[in-house]
Amino acid sequence: MSATSSGIRFDSVTVAYDGNVVLDTFDLTVEPGEVMALLGPSGSGKTTALRAVAGFVRPASGRVFLGDRDVTDLPPHRRGIGMVVQQYALFPHMRVEENVAFGLRARKVPRAEIRERVAEALDLTGMGAYARRHPRELSGGQQQRVAIARALAIRPGVLLLDEPLSALDAQLRSGMLAELARLHRELPDVSILYVTHDQVEALTLADRIAVMDRARLRACGTPRELYRSPADEFTASFVGGANLLPVTVTAGGVSFAGADIKVDTGGAARGASAVLCVRRHLVGLGEGPNQLTGTLEEIQWRGSTHRLFVDVGGHRVMADLRELRDPPAHGDAVTLHFAPDDAVLLPAGVDHD
Ligand SMILES: Nc1ncnc2c1ncn2[C@@H]1O[C@H](COP(=O)(O)OP(=O)(O)O)[C@@H](O)[C@H]1O
Ligand SMILES: [Mg+2]
Repeated sequence: MSATSSGIRFDSVTVAYDGNVVLDTFDLTVEPGEVMALLGPSGSGKTTALRAVAGFVRPASGRVFLGDRDVTDLPPHRRGIGMVVQQYALFPHMRVEENVAFGLRARKVPRAEIRERVAEALDLTGMGAYARRHPRELSGGQQQRVAIARALAIRPGVLLLDEPLSALDAQLRSGMLAELARLHRELPDVSILYVTHDQVEALTLADRIAVMDRARLRACGTPRELYRSPADEFTASFVGGANLLPVTVTAGGVSFAGADIKVDTGGAARGASAVLCVRRHLVGLGEGPNQLTGTLEEIQWRGSTHRLFVDVGGHRVMADLRELRDPPAHGDAVTLHFAPDDAVLLPAGVDHD
């Protein structure tokens, strides 16, 4: 399936409902063929950003580009975009093949070509055998595949996916994630903007992740960058499970709950307050560098791992450990450690206004 690759560019896009700004001077570029995840909590403006690209909402200011084309004033059907929303939105009275053909009919594509493109799109999504069924005769996962096939049938240069897996159960979701990755390999030129509040989906699928918080872009980078070296507390907590420990900068590192911690302070001023980000799975049990001692508050067995909640001087430190043979018990004294390279120092207090 060929597509004109184009990429997406938000140029200072602001959207307001009744004077309420829900997307605030939003700048973001999705390169041709790139998968960009828009990750953020509910209400942060993700769907609004997607609708601005699709043309279903008009920016109060700013421009939207697809490749070199300024599409801000174009109606949705002239933008060459495929879109899939959370609730599938299939036409219940139409068979699968008619659903998939819908956008092509609307565009007055010749009949023979419609047949070919519908077959191709159903093939791509593994739904070839279901062409004659109605949506009610399909499972949720199958309906979602049809919705994706319908979006692909017009051979869009840009595919917009709004929480496409959120209506599926966990096991199906994981399978569909793998399917979406395969689909992208087969359509390497299609730019994808993928809205989700699920960090695993974003980490798994995206070339880059744009983190949104209260109508604004908070951070943008590769999954690895955001996970390994988040720029702020919000990003650290939203991308991956993190301990965010209040610390004070010292001469050789930081001080936390009376313990001296070695870490690269990146020139932070001595005596300054800061936040130390340490991923749960990078905390080890027992003695080692950067040692913390505390009392076990809680232990959860999670199948392949144990999660420990340890009270260290009145602060909670969490550790995810490979399943322990001889786990400590509630109230036990526990020693934890982490490598200096596995901690990232973040500025304190810039997060909440
Ligand atoms: N049609 C609308 N009219 C008024 N407010 C809206 C409308 N659509 C969204 N909003 C508001 O805009 C904000 C952002 O919504 P949305 O973009 O849907 O967030 P997200 O997709 O991140 O959950 C929310 O506060 C929401 O209530
Ligand atoms: Mg949404």
